[in-house]
Amino acid sequence: MQSRSSVSITPSAARLTESLRDIGYDFPAAVADIVDNSIMAGAERVDIMIEFDGADSFVSIADDGHGMSANGLVEALRYGSRRSYSRGDLGRYGLGLKTASLSQCRSVTVVTQREVPGSRAVARMLDLDLIAEWDEWLVVDPVRDAAVERAREALGDNSGTVVVWRKLDRVLPEKRPHGAWGRRRLDGLAAKTAEHLGVVFHRFLEGARGRTVAVTVNGEKVEPWNPFAPDEPARIELAPQRFELVADGVSGKAELRRYVLPSRDLFSSTAEFERLSGPLNWNRQQGLYIYRADRLVQWGGWNGVRGIDEHTKLARASLDFDTDLDAVFNINVAKIRVTIPLQLRQMIERPINELCGQADDIYRKTSRRTVPEPEAANDDVSPVPKGAGTSPISRQVNAGVGLALRAAAMHAGEYESFLRVLDVLRQQAPEIAESLGLAR
Ligand SMILES: Nc1ncnc2c1ncn2[C@@H]1O[C@H](COP(=O)(O)OP(=O)(O)OP(=O)(O)O)[C@@H](O)[C@H]1O
Ligand SMILES: [Mg+2]
Repeated sequence: MQSRSSVSITPSAARLTESLRDIGYDFPAAVADIVDNSIMAGAERVDIMIEFDGADSFVSIADDGHGMSANGLVEALRYGSRRSYSRGDLGRYGLGLKTASLSQCRSVTVVTQREVPGSRAVARMLDLDLIAEWDEWLVVDPVRDAAVERAREALGDNSGTVVVWRKLDRVLPEKRPHGAWGRRRLDGLAAKTAEHLGVVFHRFLEGARGRTVAVTVNGEKVEPWNPFAPDEPARIELAPQRFELVADGVSGKAELRRYVLPSRDLFSSTAEFERLSGPLNWNRQQGLYIYRADRLVQWGGWNGVRGIDEHTKLARASLDFDTDLDAVFNINVAKIRVTIPLQLRQMIERPINELCGQADDIYRKTSRRTVPEPEAANDDVSPVPKGAGTSPISRQVNAGVGLALRAAAMHAGEYESFLRVLDVLRQQAPEIAESLGLAR
């Protein structure tokens, strides 16, 4: 752009830091954004403490990653940290540490120590009250109070970083921070955070990337919650689908993996069925789970491809994309929302409808099984219907034929016609429809 003169206008630090508090984090999502940084720093352990102490309550997130130098720490506290990113990096905007922390509190202190022999821990703080007072982008050297000392002690001689949130104005009531309500709120948030981290980082907790990260909240180990029940023998997996995306000069791959989870009676135990129900329960946990660089960013529902339906509640699918497709997926700063590009939405529509067709089928058979049938053998828990006089193997083959017919009709775009044919078949030859697993 050509211009005769220009002025450089520094944004108002006081105004902008306040506005950036509201870019969409809730407490667990804010903690998760800090854990992203720990994982990218090579941490194998992340310990989160959410401690109630009235107005002095604090949250600390301590990792054993590679830490930062003094200069690196100051850069880390810049809104829009200057650095480049490689493929698979969970960071993208240079904002998370600041925006996530200050969405929940008014003061964030970072204490960090590098692996280099002889290097000492350094501490810096961003404080919204100071920034508001001076209207400057201030990063200060905090006084060595109890919180800073505690963080230094936690690091000891090892490399790592501790992020401490204080002045928890968005978490505790301003007027009575000492009340029992505040304590209950922090306890509730700790439980929610552990649950959230178990979901969004389940692959890292399971060691799927070749290294395992252990996370604790208030001393309790966070257990991974894998939505796809990988250990259930009766789970059905459909063929994976890979897609090549090209948009705005970038290209990359996305992968869709589809699963029908077992119905209650085919789960290894009722407790496991309940656990896999998930935080939102079966119905709302159906749908697409979208992973960016192995970290879950969005889940629940079918992203406009179809609606949530009781009959398809056993269907779940993962959609993976790598960071080279960030712009195409429109990942937001809080890493909690993406938009599936239209091009991809059209491509996944059929495979998802096929998956839901199968899940619907299994659901209906299960509902039939739960209605007592005098002649039914109670110990037969296979998902195929009981055909008249056929062996379990041929029943299974028949049910497979039924599913294949249904899927083929969908692929051919003739599902409506297929349903009409099915209606006639059910009237004229109900036993064949039954043996193909296509009875109503
Ligand atoms: N726990 C940590 N250990 C080591 N370095 C860290 C840690 N936390 C932050 N950093 C450094 O500070 C930088 C800024 O972090 P910040 O979360 O603000 O942005 P980002 O991770 O680069 O991008 P995003 O806004 O997408 O999170 C990081 O890029 C990283 O270099
Ligand atoms: Mg980050």
